[in-house]
Amino acid sequence: MTADTSTDLTVHENVYGRQLSEVYDQLYRGRGKDFADEAAKLARVVKERDPGADSLLDVACGTAEHLRYLRREFTDTAGLELSPQMRAIATAKLPGVPIHDGDMRDFDVGRTFDAVCCLYSTIGYMSTVEELGSSIAAMTRHVPRGGVVVVEPWWFPERFLDGYVGEAVVREGDRTVVRVSHSVRIDQVVRQEAHFVVADPMGIRHFVNVQVLTLFTEEEYRAAFDRAGCAVDFVTGDRCWSERGLFVGVRR
Ligand SMILES: C[S@@+](CC[C@H](N)C(=O)[O-])C[C@H]1O[C@@H](n2cnc3c(N)ncnc32)[C@H](O)[C@@H]1O
Repeated sequence: MTADTSTDLTVHENVYGRQLSEVYDQLYRGRGKDFADEAAKLARVVKERDPGADSLLDVACGTAEHLRYLRREFTDTAGLELSPQMRAIATAKLPGVPIHDGDMRDFDVGRTFDAVCCLYSTIGYMSTVEELGSSIAAMTRHVPRGGVVVVEPWWFPERFLDGYVGEAVVREGDRTVVRVSHSVRIDQVVRQEAHFVVADPMGIRHFVNVQVLTLFTEEEYRAAFDRAGCAVDFVTGDRCWSERGLFVGVRR
């Protein structure tokens, strides 16, 4: 048997369209992602650097699951999200919290926040070092001097497992969601193909998403923060929730 090593790096549609957005919260909560714990740890790393921080922008906020809990820690919150379907869920979930339509590679929401975050490795969707730099620069422009920019990276190249298979089976109420994924590395780029099966009383649906992510190095992240005007720490261990660590920048 030969391995599936497709090198087609074309993404044909918004991966976070109707089908995935409808099951996103069920899938990730059911896989054990603890949005409340992540929000509490995020608030701690921010407030260690800026004890008075009270406003926060979540870039690529998805369905606003983090913002739901971050609102307990910061009185003034907002999100930015590219996918109309994810944005619609976020807006319905948190009426009164502005969820801006925007692309993290270059955005301007017209004000600053004490802190800006970009979570769950969304930064890995940046396809070049230039895009990595422009997204971190855009985040940094949204904080004042002393403001905090937190980015949860994707894997560094040396830690990525080529051919990795991920799986999840999640049942909630009368709906079961199954996801299997297979990732193939081509130099510094990963093509991840995920198949979803959703079964509920309406029937069974199947869809496939292909996404392309970049394995930026630790040095590339650090250099992007430095060019944007931030002093940066790389936080690991029990101060963060992710095996992938957290970059925490403070604007100089
Ligand atoms: C992995 S999900 C993370 C969502 C959320 N931060 C979370 O932790 O649940 C990635 C999100 O980033 C959004 N996204 C992808 N590329 C983006 C871009 N260039 N600008 C803004 N949002 C983007 C997707 O639509 C999706 O909602």
